[in-house]
Formats: sequence, structure tokens, C-alpha cells
Amino acid sequence: MLLDEYLAEAAALQSELDKRLDALEPGQRVDAVKGMLKDWRQRQDELQRSITAVPPAERREAGAALNALKQHFEAALAAYGRRAVVGHGGPVVDLTLPARERWRGGVHPVTQVIDEIREIFRELGFTVAIGPEAETEWHNFTALNFPADHPAMDLHDTLYLDDGVLLRTHTSPVQIRVLQQHTPPVRVLVPGTVYRRDFFDASHAPAFAQVEGLAVDEGVTFVDLKATLTTFARRFFGSTKTRFRPSYFPFTEPSAEMDVECQLCSGSGCASCKQSGWMEILGSGMVHPKVLTAAGVDAERYTGWAFGMGPGRIAMLRYGIPDIRILYESDMRFLEQVNR
Ligand code: PHE
Repeated sequence: MLLDEYLAEAAALQSELDKRLDALEPGQRVDAVKGMLKDWRQRQDELQRSITAVPPAERREAGAALNALKQHFEAALAAYGRRAVVGHGGPVVDLTLPARERWRGGVHPVTQVIDEIREIFRELGFTVAIGPEAETEWHNFTALNFPADHPAMDLHDTLYLDDGVLLRTHTSPVQIRVLQQHTPPVRVLVPGTVYRRDFFDASHAPAFAQVEGLAVDEGVTFVDLKATLTTFARRFFGSTKTRFRPSYFPFTEPSAEMDVECQLCSGSGCASCKQSGWMEILGSGMVHPKVLTAAGVDAERYTGWAFGMGPGRIAMLRYGIPDIRILYESDMRFLEQVNR
């Protein structure tokens, strides 16, 4: 091949490339454009191989032309990538820049705990019920067998909205609402926010989450309560020790608090569990017959059990959070740690 022929082919390839790039819609991905030019690149490869056909004395000049063509290809492609896609004279959009990283948002640790609790109880046959946050004094206290002079009803502990209306202090009034609407068998889980007139300090918040559970049917006993709550604790915390301690609530009899082995020290004792090795996670008990009666359920025929737990407390145990206020502050440094 003569040098003149070689140079003519290089020039032809260059002008063909320019024409093809000009004819392309702007805004396509550079690697896609490279793909469309595959046949062109094959011809360039052929030109490279045919350099051996050029007489040795003229190869140097042929090689220079080939290199110039290769550089032109890279430059023309880069120029294509930089071409404006927004009108004439508009801003240049650089399609070769990496995409901006987006914050996908995340689930709050307390919501994560509630979701996991829901999932476990869903498998155990519980459906979800929701009740109002502004509640009547009757549902919140009276129907739940609180004596008229119970200290919980004191202005110091409860936020009253109006005569006989208050912000619910627990999710237990939803037990009454569910039993008023549905005849047993009933198995419900009630997540929700509750309010107490507490100072906002390391261990108290005036508004916090609770999850209530209620099971009412014929022949339900304390064995069902213990078995279900122990199963829950095993699933939620992994294999863990539990214990029940006698307690008191006006709306359950007998009543028990359930503890699980401290998740931070595995029972050996630490500051978080006040050296006891245990962490209290819920209050529970057999539904008091007076509560069933108040809700219109035949207390001779039916029995039931209930529990109430604080998912915020559980999140604190799980993540070793020392101060409850961290759960309310939306500090990204904290939220990013629990949303991996
Ligand atoms: N309502 C109780 C509380 O807020 C918890 C509880 C619910 C106890 C159901 C027994 C049964 O402390």
C-alpha cells in the first residue's frame, strides 16, 4: 500500500466519524455511542494492521497519521459527551459526571422495633387495632377498674383536654374499644402513642410509644399468656432467658411483669440493668372480670390476657441508648448508626 493511499483512508475515516457524531441526537450515553461506532472502530483496526503493507521508509509518517486519528476519536467522543442537552446556549449538562448520592431515608429505631413486634404477633394470629389518642376518662380509667381516687388520674400525671376527655396514658383503653366492637375470640395488637405529664429527662418522655396485646376467648389461661410472651421474647431477642414477677395493675388479676436477660451484659450485671442482670420489658396479666363486664363481654364464659410494652425502652436496650431523648432528636449521627 502506498503512503498516499494510507493517508487518504485515515482522512476518510476521520471525516466519516465527524459526520456520524454530528448526526447523532445529543444526550446519549458515551459508552452507547461507542457501541454504535463499532464498525468504524473495526476499520480503524484494519488500518492499523495494514501499516505493514506500507514501505518501511514511509511507515513512520503512516504511523503518525494513525495516532492522530486515534486521538481525534477520543477527543471527538469526549466533545460529544460534553455537548449541551438543554437548548442552544443553555447550561451544559455533563452526562459523564457520576450521579449524586441520594439520602434514601430510614426507619426510626422505635418504628423498627414496632414493626418487628407486629411481625412476630402477626404470625401468632394477632391482627392490628388502633384507638384514639384523645380518649374518654371512662375508657382510659373507669372501665379499666381504676378506683375513683387512683393517683394515676391525678392532674400531676394525666394531661386533661376537657371535662372527661384526656390524652390516653396507655394503650389499654383500646382493649375496651375492641371488646365493645368484636365478640371473642379476639387477638389484637395495638401500637400507639401515649401521653403522661412527666418531665422530659434521660428516662422519661411526655409522649412515647406503647404496644398493647389482648387475647380473649373461652378457656384462655395464664399458661397462654406465659407461653405466648416467652415465644415472643425468644423470637425477638434470640434465645434469651425470661422471668415473670408478680405485679399489680387494676385491670389485670393476677398481674405480672416480664423481664428478659439484660441484652447488654448477658445477665452478668451492668450499669444499664442496675447490676440485676435483668431488664423489664412489659407488664401483663389476666384481664380482670370487671374489665370484661365493662366492655360488655360475658365474664362467666370468656377469659383473656393482656400485655403492654414500651418499644422505646426496647430500642434503648437493643442499641444501648443511655438517654431516651436521643430517640426524639432526629440527630443524623445517631439515626445513620441504626439504619445500616
Ligand atoms: N397499661 C399498662 C401500663 O401502661 C401496661 C399493661 C397493659 C399491663 C396490659 C397489663 C396489661 O403500664
